[in-house]
Amino acid sequence: MSAETFQLPLAAAEIYESEFVPAIFAEWAPLLVGMAGVGPGQAVLDVACGTGIVARVAADHIGTEGVVGVDLNEAMLTVARRVRPELEWRRADALALPFHAESFDTVLCQMALMFFPDRPRAVAEMARVTRAGGRVGLVVPAAIEDQPAYRLLVDIVREHAGQDGTSLLDTYWSCGDLAGLRRLVEGAGLRPDGLRTHIGTARFGSPDELVTTEVEGTPLAERISAETYRRIRRDAREALRPFIADDGTLHAPLHGHVLIATKAS
Ligand SMILES: C[S@@+](CC[C@H](N)C(=O)[O-])C[C@H]1O[C@@H](n2cnc3c(N)ncnc32)[C@H](O)[C@@H]1O
Repeated sequence: MSAETFQLPLAAAEIYESEFVPAIFAEWAPLLVGMAGVGPGQAVLDVACGTGIVARVAADHIGTEGVVGVDLNEAMLTVARRVRPELEWRRADALALPFHAESFDTVLCQMALMFFPDRPRAVAEMARVTRAGGRVGLVVPAAIEDQPAYRLLVDIVREHAGQDGTSLLDTYWSCGDLAGLRRLVEGAGLRPDGLRTHIGTARFGSPDELVTTEVEGTPLAERISAETYRRIRRDAREALRPFIADDGTLHAPLHGHVLIATKAS
């Protein structure tokens, strides 16, 4: 398996749920669920569900029946089960979904496509388990050139931690090219019919808190020394100053794409 598939121990999965999800990911789930037209009676799959924010929002719309979340990482699923035990959570690889063809009305995948080692195969798997006429919905971050705040952080990490340190951060932005994303979806026999580029906000108490979350909530923590970490913090405090709101908190813009595609009936 690639080193950049976002595998985490349980403590990091808890940080992911308590910090990453409210600070970054929760905002996208209602957009995705809404644009994909998730409605009552549907069977919905959340691929690479993490701690389950998309599945939870879908269940809030349509009830718990028929909502399933899958992820490769057992620690993420442990947290997902703790937060919402009544939903179905299964360990599975996005590249080999353990479901029969056409099992779901809607298949959603938020902020994870970029970690899959074989993206065409993952999207083909999503298309396979979607019923004819059903929808696949994806959320991915836009390219790093379109990220006014994160671009600065990535530059700082690259300067202090080198390419090994930034390869995880680079992975985040690697699906941001819209033409490439469309081709990927069309290659799986899906018809793109909804696109929105949204400017979300990554909210943190301070630049330090953003750095802590990005480093300690990701595999980056195991790859850098204490001194490197200190330098990254120092420079991020300075560089991210323009994104500090009047109340002292950091509001870093996060540009992302929501793409909805339909399977031919
Ligand atoms: C940034 S998290 C996003 C989680 C969730 N969708 C959300 O919006 O909070 C990326 C997730 O992708 C999962 N993942 C990475 N590669 C995977 C694969 N091949 N199959 C299934 N899940 C995978 C990781 O375990 C992690 O939970």
